[in-house]
Order: sequence, then C-alpha cells, then structure tokens
Amino acid sequence: MCKYYFNSKRKALPSWNEKEFDFLKNNDMIDFHRSLSGYKPTPFIELTNTSNDLGVRKILAKDESGRFGIKAFKALGASYAIFRVLKKIWEEKYGTGFDFQSFRDEEKLDKLGKFTFCAASDGNHGKAVAWTAKMLGHNSVIFMPSETVKSRIRNIEAENGKVVIVDGTYDDCVKVASAEAKKNGWFEIADTAYPGYTDIPSWVLNGYSTLFREMEEKISEYNIGKNDFIFLQAGAGAFAASGASWLTKQLGADRPKIVIVEPLEASCYLESIIEGKAVATKGKMKTIMAGLNCGVPSTLAWPILKDSADLFISIPDKHAKDAMRLYASEGIVSGESGASGLAGLIALMTDKDLEPAKSKIEIGKDSKVILVNTEGDTDPENYKNIISS
Ligand SMILES: Cc1ncc(COP(=O)(O)O)c(C=O)c1O
Repeated sequence: MCKYYFNSKRKALPSWNEKEFDFLKNNDMIDFHRSLSGYKPTPFIELTNTSNDLGVRKILAKDESGRFGIKAFKALGASYAIFRVLKKIWEEKYGTGFDFQSFRDEEKLDKLGKFTFCAASDGNHGKAVAWTAKMLGHNSVIFMPSETVKSRIRNIEAENGKVVIVDGTYDDCVKVASAEAKKNGWFEIADTAYPGYTDIPSWVLNGYSTLFREMEEKISEYNIGKNDFIFLQAGAGAFAASGASWLTKQLGADRPKIVIVEPLEASCYLESIIEGKAVATKGKMKTIMAGLNCGVPSTLAWPILKDSADLFISIPDKHAKDAMRLYASEGIVSGESGASGLAGLIALMTDKDLEPAKSKIEIGKDSKVILVNTEGDTDPENYKNIISS
C-alpha cells in the first residue's frame, strides 16, 4: 500500500525572512568541502533504461555512494557542522579567526584540546560524525537503535566511533544522546533539530547543500524547470529541506516539483502535512529503509518542507527493493534508503494507489526527474540478498 497527500500550504515563493531561517544565508559550505582532502564532486548519471521503463523523458541521478569514501552523503553535514562548532569555540576563546585551513592545522587543533562528539544515528550520520572526529583526532560516541544490523555498527567502529545501543528507536537515541552530551560535557552533533537545539542541526542541513550546488550546471544544461520533478527522501527531513530550500532559493517559482518520499511505517512528514502541524508518526517504524526510519520531524526541516514541497508520498519496502535492483542494472550501487527516491518514482508511475496523485501532479513522458542516490551498500549483506533475489 502507498499513501499520498498534496500540499495545500505550498507557497510559490516562500520568503523565509524570519530569524529562524537566518542559517539559510550561509554560503561557504561548498568551499569548505573543497578544502577537505578527498573532495570530488559526485557524478550525476542519466538512467536511460529506467526512464524508458518508467515512462518519463529523462532521469538524472546524483550518485552519493562514493562521497568521501564513506558510502553516503552524510559526510557533508557532519564535517561542516563540526567545523562550525570548532570555529565557534576557537573564536570565543582566542578572538582570532578560524578558517578552513585551521580545520586541518594540527597546532591549532591541539590548542583547542580533545573533544567527544556524540550523535544518534541509524547508521550513516553516525559514521559521518565518527569519520570527521577521527580525521581531527577527536573521539565520538554514537547512539543506535536496538534493531540496528551488525554491519552498520561495524561501519562506525571502523571509524573509531564508540557505539552504544539504546533500547528503542532513532528518536529515543536522540533523547539519550542529548542527555549524555549534557552529563559528560560532549558536543551533540544531531542531524535533527528540536526545541532549544537548532544551531548544530542547521549547520548539518547547510552542509548537505553542497551536493545540490554540484548539480547547478546540469540543472541549467538540461533545462530543468517547473514542469519537472525532484524526488527527495525524508527521515528526520534535513536532507530534503536542504534540497528544497536550495532549489527554492536558486529557481524560485520555477523550481521543479518537489516530491517527498518516506517509508509507509515511518511517514512523519506525510502525517504532519495531513494534520497541518508537525506530529510524530503513528507508524510501526519497521522498514528496511533504515536511514529514513525517523518518527519525528526536525523542527528546522518541517517549516521548509511545508512551504516548498508539492507532494508527500509514503511507500512500502518492496518499491525500495525494486529501486535497488534498477539502480544496479544501471551500474549504480544503491542501498535501501539511497534508492528510496527512485522507489518513490516507481511507486508514483506504477502503483495503483498513487494513480490519482500521478495524474494530478502531471508526471509523464515529457517529465525530467532528478533523484539522489544518497548511499551505497551500507549494509552489504542485505544489499547482496536483495540484488540477487
Ligand atoms: C542514506 C540516507 N538517505 C536519506 C536520509 C534522510 O536524511 P534526513 O534524516 O536528513 O531526512 C538518511 C538519514 O540518515 C540516510 O542515511
């Protein structure tokens, strides 16, 4: 079963002038990432066979599976947020500047001392925090839900992250990470925002914008406009809000139509847009799309998506499996959450539950579609099983 809801609150031109949106003015993210060793723009690949199969004119997939060698886009958010944290501490303590070079300056980093960064994670964000901490010689502690598969735990341990399993969901892990950070004097690097805690998650959201900046040239080359589409998968929502705010800022009312994709059993944005206010999911939070298994909208992402997205859909796991196989047939390695944007497109084009949504949003043979493969095979065993079945 799939569900959908059209966003009656969508604005053609949201102003986002209020103070809470000041962070959207930050503009140095791509320059920061360019300054990191191993930076390379990820490819934007045309999925010719898949567009023919699904009946759209063109599909362009930004492939994040090779980002900084950690198999997911999440490195962009954690690294920029930790840079901003260190910058703030340095500038408050010493009153001098802390620039991109300072982030790699061992003398300066030694002077700052050793920190512990902690985060809640279903896998990828935790790995990104641990990867950044390791690069800087700091420590990390990652709180993971009890149902986390072993390979995702090992991925974090391989980056020297200490994993603590919490008896509960991702949202329970956020609460524990917050409490432990306060108790132990750690820095919580959360990818979701909640009341009273917005600066760091705003920098995480900012950091993701680099991948959308990298698309700029192709968007104009392929003349992507308001009759076209972008599918953005949402967990806590920072990734989708980063893309939606960037597209809105760049293209205004001419931005492509934004379709938000969530798992059927963890669809807090779909449920929130129906209610007209941010609410926790009533779903069972059981899905193979682990990165999207979040039950509460980020307080930063919700107002952005409410203002800018066109359509919210929720889909069962079977579409994610089909999307992984389709990506594989085009030579792209895509994990369960990574493939979920394509899974949303498959659902919209083929699932009878979404037929009314398909015709109302006017997607068809003339449509160009942007997708983001947000991860590679972050759970290699399950990846192999799904691809070979
Ligand atoms: C691979 C992947 N895609 C998408 C997302 C969704 O990101 P967000 O929680 O910012 O919505 C995640 C989150 O962990 C993820 O790991």
